[in-house]
Formats: sequence, C-alpha cells, structure tokens
Amino acid sequence: MKIIITGSLGNVSKPLATELVQNGHTVSVISSNPAKQKEIEALGAEAAIGSIEDVAFLTQTFAGADVVYCMLPPFKFREDPNLDARAEAFRLATNYTQAIRQAGVKRVVHLSSIGAHLEKGNGLLAFHFIAEKVFRALPSDVAITHMRPVGFYYNLFDFIETIKGEGFLDSFIGKILTIKYYGLVGFIQGKRGLIMSNYGAGDKMPWVSPVDIAAAVAEEITNPVKNRKVRYVASEDLTCREIAGILGNAIGKPYLKWETISDKQMLSALQQYGVPFSLAKDITEMNASMHNGLIFEDYYKNVPTLGKVKLKEFAKEFSINYNKK
Ligand SMILES: NC(=O)c1ccc[n+]([C@@H]2O[C@H](COP(=O)([O-])OP(=O)(O)OC[C@H]3O[C@@H](n4cnc5c(N)ncnc54)[C@H](OP(=O)(O)O)[C@@H]3O)[C@@H](O)[C@H]2O)c1
Repeated sequence: MKIIITGSLGNVSKPLATELVQNGHTVSVISSNPAKQKEIEALGAEAAIGSIEDVAFLTQTFAGADVVYCMLPPFKFREDPNLDARAEAFRLATNYTQAIRQAGVKRVVHLSSIGAHLEKGNGLLAFHFIAEKVFRALPSDVAITHMRPVGFYYNLFDFIETIKGEGFLDSFIGKILTIKYYGLVGFIQGKRGLIMSNYGAGDKMPWVSPVDIAAAVAEEITNPVKNRKVRYVASEDLTCREIAGILGNAIGKPYLKWETISDKQMLSALQQYGVPFSLAKDITEMNASMHNGLIFEDYYKNVPTLGKVKLKEFAKEFSINYNKK
C-alpha cells in the first residue's frame, strides 16, 4: 500500500512509519524540517519535506495514496499563549480535508483524542471535537477512522519540575501545603515529593504509550473500514496514587504523592504563572473533566483491548529525564 504519514518522526509517527516499512508498505513521511530527510530515509521511507499549512503541497503529496494518516501537531502555547486552539484545529483540519478531496484519497486515519465526543465541558480538548467534525464532513465514500488515544504517558514529564519543587505551582501552592501538610513540611521543603493538579489522588484513568497508538494506527491503516469508525487506544488504567507510587519508586522517592487541588487553586496558579485567562480556564476545565470522569464516559462504554506498554516501562524513561533535568 502507498501510505502517507504526517507528524514527521514524532512520538506516534516514528514507530508507525517503522512498522509500516517493515511490513513492506511504501511510506512517505511529511516533515517541515529538511534536516529530518536523512533520518526519515534511514527508516526506509520517503521524506516529503513541506508544511501542513500548504494545501498545494499536501494535495501533491497525497496524490495516489491508498491511505493518509493525519495528525495535528501540538499547539505552541509557549510561543503564543493567546493562540486560539479551536480556530487552529479548524484551519489545519480543513487544510487536510481540502487536500484529501483534491487528491481523491478514499481512506483516512485521523489522530484525534479522548474527549473528542464532547463539544463542551472538556476544556482544551474541544479542539479535537472540532477537527473530527471537519473530517466527518468529507464525502461518505471516504472511509475514516478517528483514533482517540487517552492521555499520553509523556504528559507526566510535565510534573518533573513540580516534584523537584521548581514548578510554577510550587511557590503558590507551597504556602497552602505548609499549612495543610504541616507534619510533612520536610518533604515539601526538603525532599519534595509531590505532584499537584486539580485531578489526582484516587482518580482512576487510562494512560497510553505512543508505541501502542502506533500499533493501533497501523492496524487501522491496513484493515479495510467502511464509512466511519472511532477507536480508543489505551495501555493501562491506573489511579493517580498508583502512578505516583510507580514513578516515585523509579526516581528513588517512594513517598511521592499526587495531591488534588481545587479548580480555583489550579486556575489561580496558572494565571499567577502568566498563563492567559482563556487558556488557564481551558486547562483547568480539561483537568476537571478528568477528575469528575466526564471525558472518560464514552471511553468506558467502548474500552479497547489494552496495549503492551505499561507504566512501569515508561517509569524507566521518566527516571532518566528526571535525573537529566
Ligand atoms: N498528550 C496527550 O495526552 C494526547 C492525548 C490524545 C491526543 N493527543 C494528540 O496527539 C497529537 C500529538 O502527537 P505526537 O505526540 O505524535 O506529535 P509530536 O511527536 O509532537 O510530532 C509532531 C510533529 O509534527 C511536525 N510538524 C509540526 N508542525 C508541522 C507543520 N506545519 N508541517 C508539517 N509537520 C509539522 C513536527 O516535526 P518536524 O519539525 O519534523 O516537521 C513535529 O515533531 C496532538 O494532536 C495531540 O493533541 C495527545
């Protein structure tokens, strides 16, 4: 099969391209960075250097493809905290669908997300609802699988600074914790050992490795699908307390805890760190929907077979990153 992969050599796209090449398919990988050409070719794939911002480039690259895998690169909020994720998702998904129509592609695998079934109440994840809607407007003879992976293990890297006590929440929350955890001040001020967010503690939720997503995407690419399909992908279901235990053991802090703070505290802490109100509100609402289970409702009605990569495996990578930073 001739397969086009977007997302360059990213978390999902690299293992995906590798597997498809090994299975004998003709694979082109789109990257916006000419310096990636050699690495892409070393995998046995063709490099299509250009941008998903460029519909003419996408149309030309998609021409003659049996299947295209379309993903939205993560938004660069650090460069532009006021970026409108919903408008960007609409714009980029429209670029893809224009190219799909013009190139006559009949099979699409779209990387969406948990929470994409909700128009509201899912905070930042609403942009995935919008992207799915744009893809669904393609003619009915275009078969589409919307992949809805759950939270990526790598999101947990974001807590490294908080665990070390260097994170944005630390100075603000530190005062509250000093009162709340009076007996544990040693941990807070000395050894640290806390993850904090407005979801955590006993909240149970699924997590996923990009390697398991890539395997599921590869299956969808090679299996025929009629019309439309949604597929959730997950590797392991765990409480935040269990996660803290596994990561804590991996980094030599077996006392690591994951405490829940209120939505109000989360919102204030984000704003204090300089995050604009609209983004802070979106992040807080997304986390709140993990705490109250709203974004997992559809997932738990359609639980997939869990993937192979468990958190204990990821914890090794977490430990390497923790010790590097
Ligand atoms: N984090 C989560 O928990 C979670 C959960 C569910 C879904 N998701 C979704 O998963 C997606 C991220 O997947 P991922 O981690 O595999 O992505 P990733 O590793 O961040 O890879 C994205 C790659 O896209 C390329 N790219 C960026 N801008 C481009 C452009 N204009 N034109 C062409 N290529 C461009 C970049 O490579 P080059 O520099 O080589 O171009 C980049 O490395 C997002 O849509 C996210 O919302 C995430």
